[in-house]
Amino acid sequence: MLLKLFILIFLSQSQVLAGKSSSSSEEDGSSEHDDEEHGKGSSHEHWGYDDQEAWLSTFHDCSGKSQSPIDIETSKAIYDPSLPHIELEGYDLTGQNALILQNNGHTLQLSLPKTMRLVKGFKDVYLAAQLHFHWGTIEVPGSEHTIDDVHFPAEIHVVHYNSKYANMSEAASKADGLAVLGGFIGIGLRENDNYEKILSVLRDVSKEDSDIEIPGFNVRHLLPKNLDRFYRYKGSLTTPPCFQTVNWTMFNDTIMVSRKQLAALEDTLKIGQNKLLSKNFRTPQLLHGRTVLSSFTVDNHNPDDSPEKKPFPRSTENAGLSRGDLLAIAFGALFAVTLLGFSMYAFQQRRNNSKIKKDSRQNVIYKPATKEEV
Ligand SMILES: *[C@@H]1O[C@H](CO)[C@@H](O)[C@H](O)[C@H]1NC(C)=O
Ligand SMILES: *[C@@H]1O[C@H](CO)[C@@H](O)[C@H](O)[C@H]1NC(C)=O
Ligand SMILES: *[C@@H]1O[C@H](CO)[C@@H](O)[C@H](O)[C@H]1NC(C)=O
Repeated sequence: MLLKLFILIFLSQSQVLAGKSSSSSEEDGSSEHDDEEHGKGSSHEHWGYDDQEAWLSTFHDCSGKSQSPIDIETSKAIYDPSLPHIELEGYDLTGQNALILQNNGHTLQLSLPKTMRLVKGFKDVYLAAQLHFHWGTIEVPGSEHTIDDVHFPAEIHVVHYNSKYANMSEAASKADGLAVLGGFIGIGLRENDNYEKILSVLRDVSKEDSDIEIPGFNVRHLLPKNLDRFYRYKGSLTTPPCFQTVNWTMFNDTIMVSRKQLAALEDTLKIGQNKLLSKNFRTPQLLHGRTVLSSFTVDNHNPDDSPEKKPFPRSTENAGLSRGDLLAIAFGALFAVTLLGFSMYAFQQRRNNSKIKKDSRQNVIYKPATKEEV
């Protein structure tokens, strides 16, 4: 019977593996080599997430060699202890500072006053302009950056521009123009009161190009608690015109919102007539030799591994068993077989021993037999 089970596991394993390799080769093909095919599509200014290859023909920077987002391979990130600590100033807005929340057809965006600033952490002071989000659907996690090829449910970007330029639009095309702070959003058990300040009014901006005013609040609380653990790399805007002018900071700590809150983000905003605004994330771009720095080592990483914190796999294709899972099953089965064999052996031994035990029972009466045998 056990053999049957083992064979079954083995068979299902090879099926999943075969299915996986064929689907992943399809993905590879479309992500890298279909440029010409898609390029001839629309050349108007309206861009969307369904056809990201079309961005390349209209916005030349989108095919550059320092594009964002990227996959952050944790094993290849280079620890740089000299990365300066980031210091925020003026993030603690109050009800007096009204903010404009807008559905701009690509994202949910909150305008920010330039009194919010990054005063340390970069060569210049950077002023806040806006923050916005990227998300998926309930089946498809929608972060833009990935960690070891895994997407998170959503991602927040707080966009700042270099204070030496007059405004955001002037800075956006300058090499040292922008600094974006990015955070991964995951699913936690509790509702996040800070995110609720934005998410509770989503229905008021469900229509494309609609906006509302909301009272200011402490925007610091939309970012992870720990700002000292981050990745740093040189990249771009993740939307057209894809200017390669962003000094990226992606925090290592995840921000938690409730499942219900995430669902609100995924299911409320519309574009055009009645199309859902979702899956507004760009595919990770090639590094082209860039390095990713990290401000922390695994040693000083706070090992907070509650299951709710774990990201889930990218798409339904990957939602099945990963190669790691399969290995775990195989080893699990192997272990089970070994354990069974061993127990049978042990049982046999115990039977053989029980005779002897009976004879010497008086001597070992207060020692549990099971302990004796191990
Ligand atoms: C990003 O900021 C860091 C810290 O100030 C700086 O060393 C680095 O040169 C900047 N990178 C770019 C591309 O501006
Ligand atoms: C940004 O600054 C430039 C240069 O001062 C100016 O010409 C432009 O009108 C400004 N744009 C906005 C949107 O304020
Ligand atoms: C944070 O860093 C640890 C250690 O490198 C890594 O295992 C984990 O995936 C990282 N998570 C994020 C969201 O960066």
